[in-house]
Amino acid sequence: MPQSLSSTAEISGKSIIPRHIAIVMDGNGRWAKKRFLPRVTGHRKGVEAVRSIIKACIEQGVEFLTLFAFSSENWRRPEEEVTFLLQLFVNTLEHEVTKLNENGICFKVIGDLSKFDARTVTFIRQGEELTANNNRLIFTVAANYGGRWDIMQAIQKLMIHSPGLMENFEEADLAKYFAMSYAPDPDLFIRTGGECRISNFLLWQLAYAELYFTDTLWPDFDAQALDLAIKSYQQRERRFGRISEQLQNMPVEKGMTKIAAKKKF
Ligand code: IPE
Ligand code: IPE
Ligand code: MG
Repeated sequence: MPQSLSSTAEISGKSIIPRHIAIVMDGNGRWAKKRFLPRVTGHRKGVEAVRSIIKACIEQGVEFLTLFAFSSENWRRPEEEVTFLLQLFVNTLEHEVTKLNENGICFKVIGDLSKFDARTVTFIRQGEELTANNNRLIFTVAANYGGRWDIMQAIQKLMIHSPGLMENFEEADLAKYFAMSYAPDPDLFIRTGGECRISNFLLWQLAYAELYFTDTLWPDFDAQALDLAIKSYQQRERRFGRISEQLQNMPVEKGMTKIAAKKKF
């Protein structure tokens, strides 16, 4: 296949610090169970881990952080857990959006918001607007998100907005309708909690991400654990289909190499 037909050919170079980290925050329930506590306590504790990972990402010089908070499959959980998770999401937003803004963080939500009540959607949109011009970290929460939903809704938008293209369209025509079209593809995918699966997260966007799985449960995932994940990432050779020898003399693409610009939170 000619190189120009695959968008993954455009991603190249070695990045010292991943520009974009995407995390499946898993293991809250087991964290609580180990302590004979209700699962919801694990979810509450998980919010604290979110705060510390946002701070750690800024300090490491990560530009984009995307967290999977609630999947399109999580509706299958017991009703009271679903209700708790959605309420926790709304309460956390209400408490944190101002702080995110004060810290120069741009906040975004991706996912099918049609299942959320109007008040929550308005609150999300207001938070996004308030923080839109911040660029210290682009922090995205995936809520009622599914990778397949994302691909389907992008195809639907393409059909509506560019019906003439349906006979012959390229990746870029479709990619602009993905929920995360504002971000580069994740460089590093992390899943806590010991499971080694993607669970319908960013299916398209993870095409060439480096995958990192850890047994650490999400509430225990801290700055040091993030550092280990980044160190593992730094050991990887990202070839994007090439062979090792080709990488030696390859110019590093602008923006791909990022010397750890330590920032103060
Ligand atoms: C992740 O923790 C949080 C969400 C999926 C919302 P879990 O609730 O899946 O925790 P485990 O996997 O049961 O330990
Ligand atoms: C994935 O975790 C979704 C989120 C972290 C929001 P789950 O715990 O729901 O994943 P599976 O179903 O065990 O794969
Ligand atoms: Mg789980």
